[in-house]
Amino acid sequence: MNVHHSLPVPTLELDSVAFNHRGQTLLKPISLRLAGCQKTLIMGPNGAGKSLLMRLAHGLLTPTSGKVRWQGAPPAQAMVFQRPVLLRRSALENLTYVLAINKTPRPELKGLVRKTQAMSALEKFGLAHLAKRPARVLSGGEQQRLALARAWLLNPQVLFLDEPTSALDPAAIKAVEDAVLEFHHSGTRIVMTTHDLHQARRLANDVLFLHNGELIEHTPADDFFTAPTSSEAGAFIRGELVW
Ligand SMILES: Nc1ncnc2c1ncn2[C@@H]1O[C@H](COP(=O)(O)OP(=O)(O)OP(=O)(O)O)[C@@H](O)[C@H]1O
Ligand SMILES: [Mg+2]
Repeated sequence: MNVHHSLPVPTLELDSVAFNHRGQTLLKPISLRLAGCQKTLIMGPNGAGKSLLMRLAHGLLTPTSGKVRWQGAPPAQAMVFQRPVLLRRSALENLTYVLAINKTPRPELKGLVRKTQAMSALEKFGLAHLAKRPARVLSGGEQQRLALARAWLLNPQVLFLDEPTSALDPAAIKAVEDAVLEFHHSGTRIVMTTHDLHQARRLANDVLFLHNGELIEHTPADDFFTAPTSSEAGAFIRGELVW
């Protein structure tokens, strides 16, 4: 189990956040509040703007207009990308590296301790046998799991996951969902995208539904899957919404 967070997760507020690129509106103004240690799932068809919204919320992109705010001190955040970004080093070294440069979790960790921690994270995600392999030659699913192991070690208060299971086999999907629940139980707020409706039903407390760069609805999960308020979300759930 990860270290428990003693502090409450600050509320994330988006105030009319919009994003344009070369005169094209990619995200129309979005206002929302994500409070507490919940699991928010972002859903919507390809190109709807899900990854963009996550990058804006995480602070990797600056909105063209509007504001992203944390109520309280900005929390420790980590993000697992749709396409993992890994260093040209072994799987193990990708993990010991973040422990070495990241001061937040345990500044006192020495090399050997870092290695032990990194190995236990590899084991947790079924990668121990690949510790010495260059990260960039790992398969797509293995890279995704390595990115999760890295996020795990950072012990973030807020974790953004962009389709973390899209390249994974069924057993690995289960392992990732269990890890998401463990993060959640140790006090980490989850913001995640998925195209898997069953997965969203299993994990979501609330759902943000995007279509064509627009936030169509933000609904408690129970309502979203049984009685979505928008016709677009209804069509999406029935598998009928075409981009
Ligand atoms: N940096 C960028 N420059 C120009 N266009 C971009 C940029 N990033 C995203 N887009 C465009 O914005 C739209 C939304 O992209 P985004 O990656 O957020 O979609 P998505 O909902 O995550 O889709 P998917 O389900 O395929 O991952 C797409 O049409 C994409 O081409
Ligand atoms: Mg995406």
